[in-house]
Amino acid sequence: MRKVLYPGTFDPVTNGHIDIIKRAMELFDGVVVTVAINPSKTPLFTVEERVQMIRDSLTGFNNITVDSFDGLVVEHAHQVGAIGIIRGLRAVSDFEYEFQMALMNRKLAGDLTTVFLMPHEKYTYLNSSIIRNLAELKSDVSEFVPQVVLQKLKEKFSQ
Ligand code: COA
Repeated sequence: MRKVLYPGTFDPVTNGHIDIIKRAMELFDGVVVTVAINPSKTPLFTVEERVQMIRDSLTGFNNITVDSFDGLVVEHAHQVGAIGIIRGLRAVSDFEYEFQMALMNRKLAGDLTTVFLMPHEKYTYLNSSIIRNLAELKSDVSEFVPQVVLQKLKEKFSQ
């Protein structure tokens, strides 16, 4: 079974991420979407909330699992039996950071291949910070995030 790992912070998952996940599901037998417990970021949503939002956004697909990880992404890829790592490339500006990360991951684990996928061009300008920012300012983000995320953002910012 050819399984790949899609790591990210997903704070929160957006339609751009969902687009990448669906493309990966068409190419591979299984996709493990994994939420990074990233100490360098201060997320709006807890790890559990982020995992649950991804699960709820992707009901009805049987070749996807969602979990979280702490530590090195390559170690987690080995733990779940992945043959590679999926990353999304939205614009040229993503390239340098992604290139560096892919080469470092290859150095750490030569058996894992990083595969870059491009989301639909309508999502190229999306990222999670913009979504959080717009939602906090009560702007309509329904076009950019799954329904469950929209609901969670409303709850978060009405508190
Ligand atoms: N659609 C919308 N937004 C997207 C996107 C897409 N298709 N792809 C990426 N983004 C956005 C994210 O929303 C995020 O936005 P934000 O910074 O505004 O919150 C931003 O791009 C960064 O993407 P993300 O996928 O979350 O990457 P990251 O830079 O937070 O890295 C890991 C996450 C898990 C891959 C990385 O931290 C990691 O590997 N950590 C483990 C430690 C490790 O192994 N280190 C060695 C690696 S060399």
